[in-house]
Amino acid sequence: MDTIATVLSGIRATGRLHFGNYIGAVRHFVTHQQQGNRCMYFIADLHTLTTLRNPEELRGNVIEIVKDYLAAGLNPEGSIIYAQSSVPEISELSLLLSMVQPLGELERIPTFKDLVRKNPDNVTLGLVTYPVLMAADILGPQATLVPVGEDQIPNLELARNMARRFNERFGQTFALPEMLEEMVKVPGLDGEKMGKSEADNAIDINSSIEIIRKRYLERGITDPQRLRASDPGDPYNRCRSIYPLHEIITPGEANGREIAKACIAAHIGCVECKKRLVDNIAVILEPFQEHRAALANQNDYAREVLHEGGKRARRIIKETVERVRDKMGIVMY
Ligand code: ADP
Ligand code: TRP
Repeated sequence: MDTIATVLSGIRATGRLHFGNYIGAVRHFVTHQQQGNRCMYFIADLHTLTTLRNPEELRGNVIEIVKDYLAAGLNPEGSIIYAQSSVPEISELSLLLSMVQPLGELERIPTFKDLVRKNPDNVTLGLVTYPVLMAADILGPQATLVPVGEDQIPNLELARNMARRFNERFGQTFALPEMLEEMVKVPGLDGEKMGKSEADNAIDINSSIEIIRKRYLERGITDPQRLRASDPGDPYNRCRSIYPLHEIITPGEANGREIAKACIAAHIGCVECKKRLVDNIAVILEPFQEHRAALANQNDYAREVLHEGGKRARRIIKETVERVRDKMGIVMY
């Protein structure tokens, strides 16, 4: 990218981070920081309240995720790292945006339908307005790029529509946030999207490589029709957990297709294929885990990072929210 972007993203504090979060989101956070953009990365603690109701656990998860951010390579000099709730103006912006947001659009959004399906007894108002708060997260700092995984596309599209509509109605106010060119969906061990709130299909980025290897060997779903190593495999359609991840993380695979060809020709068996995958996961996670272990007892430092980041984020977001208030006719008397 030639010009400096305002890069913004957040992760909910629902639990420990998994490899899908790392590959779909966090690794991009680091790249954009390294490129010298204005980076703002937060923990979406308010969004977490739609699914997690244990205050102790929530507080703990927030601190652990900050340490994950730092271990992955973010630092408070290169990125503003903060908790969403430390900037009350985000909630205010969400309220202001909700006044002009048609309800129907929120009910039609696939991520909402998905959450309703998973929590049929827990369809709160917060769940319906989830994308409005997310739009406030994005539009408040005038983000121009939002690195997230593929599952977040509908929410991002909604934020873009809200910005466009607001600008048309009240005059130019918000930057239009762009998505990454390549958004991915990391498969879990069962071949479904890897997720922390899903069935036990995730790889915790803090698990030892040995445990990760064991989980893949025992539970990673490959082509169910390939019974013997001498049978030709179908990496593209029938292998739902291992090959799709090779495509994302194995250097050269997306272009050269060496593993796919070897699988189709029955030159490589599923066990060998899994071992190679875990070796490549190890290359990515080992430096992270080393750094993470050194931060294990740095909770005070993590809180300090959030405190300073919160102040900086607040200064930036406040400016936008004051403008929005003014445009909508709201006066602080
Ligand atoms: P989860 O879906 O596990 O609860 P979050 O919703 O907090 O995690 O997601 C945080 C970030 O990680 C988002 O940018 C999301 O798109 C990304 N992400 C989550 N799961 C995956 C996945 N399986 N593949 C790619 N990106 C993912
Ligand atoms: N909804 C996102 C998720 O579940 C988390 C999130 C909240 C977010 N606000 C955001 C991501 C703003 C990017 C930008 O993963």
